[in-house]
Amino acid sequence: MSFWSELGFGSNPYIVKPLPSSADGRELLVGRDSDLKSLLRKIEEGDTHVVLEGPNGVGKTSLVAVAAWVASERFRNRQTSQLYLPLAEPLQIKEDSSEFISDCYFAIARAFLDHEETLKRADRKAPKTRDVKTWLESPVIKGRGLSISTPFGGGGLTASSAANGSAGFSNAGFRTTIRGWLRDAFPEGTGGLVGVIDNLELLETSDAARRLLEEIRDPVLQLSGMRWVLCGARGIARSVAATPRLNGVLSDPIEITPVAHQFIPRLIEARLEHYSIRSTSKAPVSASSFERVYEVSHRNLRDSLRHAQSFASDRESEFFLEREEGQIADAFIRWLEDLAIKHEASVKMQPRTWKLLEDLAAFGGTCSPSDFDQFGFNDRAHMRKNVVELERYSLVTSSKDDDDQRRRSIETTSKGWLVYYARAKGLSSPVLPGV
Ligand SMILES: Nc1ncnc2c1ncn2[C@@H]1O[C@H](COP(=O)(O)OP(=O)(O)OP(=O)(O)O)[C@@H](O)[C@H]1O
Ligand SMILES: [Mg+2]
Repeated sequence: MSFWSELGFGSNPYIVKPLPSSADGRELLVGRDSDLKSLLRKIEEGDTHVVLEGPNGVGKTSLVAVAAWVASERFRNRQTSQLYLPLAEPLQIKEDSSEFISDCYFAIARAFLDHEETLKRADRKAPKTRDVKTWLESPVIKGRGLSISTPFGGGGLTASSAANGSAGFSNAGFRTTIRGWLRDAFPEGTGGLVGVIDNLELLETSDAARRLLEEIRDPVLQLSGMRWVLCGARGIARSVAATPRLNGVLSDPIEITPVAHQFIPRLIEARLEHYSIRSTSKAPVSASSFERVYEVSHRNLRDSLRHAQSFASDRESEFFLEREEGQIADAFIRWLEDLAIKHEASVKMQPRTWKLLEDLAAFGGTCSPSDFDQFGFNDRAHMRKNVVELERYSLVTSSKDDDDQRRRSIETTSKGWLVYYARAKGLSSPVLPGV
């Protein structure tokens, strides 16, 4: 028997992957009713792509996945005549626009296979499965040894045989074919595929993100029959949405804030119930323990779940089976404190830099380089020096040289919050118990 089944769970209830676009995802999404409503409205009624701005690990990708599923359910239940269907996976942004464009077309082609039945039942004109497969297995697409030159193709390999009689196996042909499939399945105003363009902050600067989005504007963002949802953290999505050239294509961002504290017990209970296979299941981290780690992690769901998971997997199942709930809860808090103490002990910084970490926490954990005076620095360069030091210990992340100086591009990390917790609570003492 596996660790989780010994504890009475089908699998790990603290899994950190985004929620799936399915009934399960809907069941597990807690505390997001109003965000879900506004996102659905933007998907169904808007004529621009949607932008979500929110801190890392707050639940953006999960929210979109569930919203896309709810939209498709609304069609199934005849509450709307618009059919929206999700792409299987969020698309991770890449610096190389050609590669990213290929990823998008590939994902769209896959979606026609995934949703074949639904499209048929909805009486939508869909490509023949055989044709989609022929394309996906064609030499130019398979293994994606693509030779892409410009967004709309040109160049590229051309096979002597044709996939559907009209277009050969070339990038240009692939893209033209996909545009046709989308137009046929989703004529104007009848819905579309919902795709997530995720983690814009990985592009580091607003400038780089803007450049990439401008490059994918025609081949990706102007594709009819597609509704894209762009997600970003540290102010990058907000910054990009305000770009004049992208203004007509992107909506004003929806700000996603952390799930409110009052929903956290329910959020964890929903998971424990969902994954439980026995009425006597034993949770390594209960709802109330989770509330504590959620606070310590500054309401970052991903980090909180990750901590819960590592506490569980650091121990044998007997540890939990042999103990009462209260003992497990105490052990969890001790473990979390020890982790914080260990991290704090590994950091050797000047008092001024420590002060910045503390002030930044009091400021909400994130700030922009132009906030230097609020932290008692005379200029940006002085603050930068201290930020670099904090970054050296992975206590904050920042985007260097962003042209958008108001962007809150400096953010406390998971480790930063733990170290701050150890310090703020004075957990480290010169003589540790048992040492
Ligand atoms: N409302 C919610 N209810 C229950 N679980 C949630 C909720 N929102 C997010 N989660 C869980 O929290 C974790 C982080 O969510 P997600 O990956 O969607 O965040 P994110 O904002 O997209 O993060 P990142 O910025 O790193 O991409 C996942 O494990 C997800 O299952
Ligand atoms: Mg995400």
